Amino acid sequence: MTTRKLLLIAAAVIAGAVSCSKSPLEKKVDEIVSKMSLEEKIGQMVQLNVTVVTDKEGKKISEQGEQIIRQYKIGSILNTPGDNGSTTAEHYRDLIAQLQDISLDEMGIPCIYGLDQIHGATYTTGATFFPQEVNIAATFDTKHAANMGKVLAYETRACNVPWVFSPVMDLGRNPVWPRVWESYGEDVCLTRAMAVAETVAIQGEDKDNIDEYHTAVSLKHYMAYGMPVSGQDRTPSMVSYRDLMERFFQPFKACVEAGALTIMVNSAINDGIPFHSNKELLTGWVKEGLNWDGFFVTDWADVKNIHSRDHVAASTKEAAMLAVNAGIDMIMDPYTPDVCTELLELVKEGKVSKERIDDAARRIIRAKLRMGLFDDPYGKKGSYEKFACEEHVAMAYQAAVEGEVLLKNEGAMLPLSKDAKILLVGPNANSMRTLNGGWSYSWQGDKAASEEMTGQYNTILEALQAKFKNVKYHSAVEYYGARWQDDRVTDLSAAVRDAASCDVIVACIGENTYCETPGNTPDILLSSNQRDMVKALAATGKPVVLILNEGRPRIIADIEPLAKAVVDIMLPSNYGADALAALLCGEENFSGRLPFTYPKYPNRYTPYDYYLSENVTTMAGAYNYDAKVDAQWNFGDGLSYTTFEYSDMTVDKTDFKAGDILTVSVNVKNTGERAGKESVLLFSSDIYASVAPSVRRLRDFKKVEIPAGESVKVEFSLPAENLAFAGHDLKWHLEPGEFRLAIGSESVNVNCVE
Ligand code: BGC
Repeated sequence: MTTRKLLLIAAAVIAGAVSCSKSPLEKKVDEIVSKMSLEEKIGQMVQLNVTVVTDKEGKKISEQGEQIIRQYKIGSILNTPGDNGSTTAEHYRDLIAQLQDISLDEMGIPCIYGLDQIHGATYTTGATFFPQEVNIAATFDTKHAANMGKVLAYETRACNVPWVFSPVMDLGRNPVWPRVWESYGEDVCLTRAMAVAETVAIQGEDKDNIDEYHTAVSLKHYMAYGMPVSGQDRTPSMVSYRDLMERFFQPFKACVEAGALTIMVNSAINDGIPFHSNKELLTGWVKEGLNWDGFFVTDWADVKNIHSRDHVAASTKEAAMLAVNAGIDMIMDPYTPDVCTELLELVKEGKVSKERIDDAARRIIRAKLRMGLFDDPYGKKGSYEKFACEEHVAMAYQAAVEGEVLLKNEGAMLPLSKDAKILLVGPNANSMRTLNGGWSYSWQGDKAASEEMTGQYNTILEALQAKFKNVKYHSAVEYYGARWQDDRVTDLSAAVRDAASCDVIVACIGENTYCETPGNTPDILLSSNQRDMVKALAATGKPVVLILNEGRPRIIADIEPLAKAVVDIMLPSNYGADALAALLCGEENFSGRLPFTYPKYPNRYTPYDYYLSENVTTMAGAYNYDAKVDAQWNFGDGLSYTTFEYSDMTVDKTDFKAGDILTVSVNVKNTGERAGKESVLLFSSDIYASVAPSVRRLRDFKKVEIPAGESVKVEFSLPAENLAFAGHDLKWHLEPGEFRLAIGSESVNVNCVE
């Protein structure tokens, strides 16, 4: 046999082995993609807004819509049909069936429909709404993120929608950013744990076989979206690659490792480079670095933004080239399919390779197979009797109870007696809209005000009236008009008059609802009307309880001292007022903790894990430099009606090495008179490091329920590698030297010896 023949046989054997080793899923992907034309592959890469393909009511695919789908072979559609925000599960099912008829007939490939189901199936009428993510974070218990994910997926699949743009895993590290409430707060450890729990609950245990009760996730927004320098939505961040690696990348990495099928990209630029055209971060860090076979979807019109907004590409076509070559697989170009033509030209001109298009198409087809779309495009397999059932509602209520945070309770002002004469005031006291926030029935959350959507749920006024015998109400200040920012004084003088005959004033203050860019504000102070209202009422001498109902921490430094008690309920959604009433009367106990730092001044904000130089005492000498950290409340703050005492913290090793696992334990005693839940937080501090260390970092947390007078031992397994930091070489470093581990009042120093 000639050498050439031998080589050919060897090549055939290797090819056979390779193809034999392919999983059934990959073989199926091969089979489907091999039959697709270039146009079909490109069409799979494009996602249009549903309004482009339907009639005005969003009930029927329009003739023009059908023509667009057929001509451009469109692979994906997003959003709620019509212009009314949320709609029924039946409506989605009906519309998606029409889409599938066309897609299967034209391409033989089912369409993938994506929806922003953010704190439950929040674009589906009648679904179970959980508190927003920021409240879920405040529970410091991943069980609630898992419950939300499970219910959200189930109730979304009831609509035959297989894909949600959740969870949001941006670190909310700029308090004025209008999407803080969509995030799990400012910390990487908390966000990572919550996001992984939600991802796994949404997708189910087997990412290759997502069943009819689960959906695919789209982690978002990759990455550092929560840290715009200006605080305005979609404006630039300036995060170093080191910090990206150490903080912002971590939740995405963990969720990809937990099986996340898709990722949505951050709209903004970082240090001048659009995330959407950053090959190193998309292809390098995720696809290659994590060996990820899922797909990237852009955010809203963000390929075009590379050209029209950021001026990084001289044309929309060049923008498409940059994005696809960087690793973007699906383009959310909501209003026009013209990127299809541009991509086709780019391939013909050799500016985007056929291989890249094949790769993107394979990733999308793979995801469609994993979601079961080829087997069950019409969503006939499942039956959804548990939609908005009592069990789902109980989970949402419990998350609301544990996600409202008691920040101040002077002289045990709370709980209130059920006989207390309450004067209830404020623009948030009688509003379902403000309890819900954005992404609730409609993008801006305004539709949550409608009786049809939320009539069956309780506002704070209604919930207090159900628990307390004497509740008198004046709005005193109200939101009005089309802009969420606008409030005005109403019957404040009547409220002041009635204060004379009340025992306590409960003032519900905060924000009206907004979402994304419309939520930008130049001023993080709470509105002056609301602060003046509190001042006028406090001047009556009656004790004031502040209820903060807001999507981000609005500064209240001038009125906080006037209040005896403060509760931050953030955005607890439809069961949030019932939870609050039960907490205020003491039927339930508080256990929430702040997942972000609550600023006291507009220009002195630092997250909890600041650098030491941000908080130093005055230097001796003429040049008396100093710096102050002075927050209204700190990350992790939160009181209970009982008290807990920490003691006997131990670490099983005084000296440790890189591969070790440290067992850290502490005793927590409930020293009060009633049962309570306590979130036990484990922090670490690297005492000296070659890159300036943060003052402290959260490393783990556990929530425990402890009966009055009893103690529990809480134990953590802390891998030593979790104490490492990212260096400027973009590698992890665990340097020898001292570390302090701290839980509550306790701390132990340990030593890294290599
Ligand atoms: C938002 C995303 C959202 C997308 C689709 C964008 O404006 O930034 O979070 O998923 O729209 O609705």
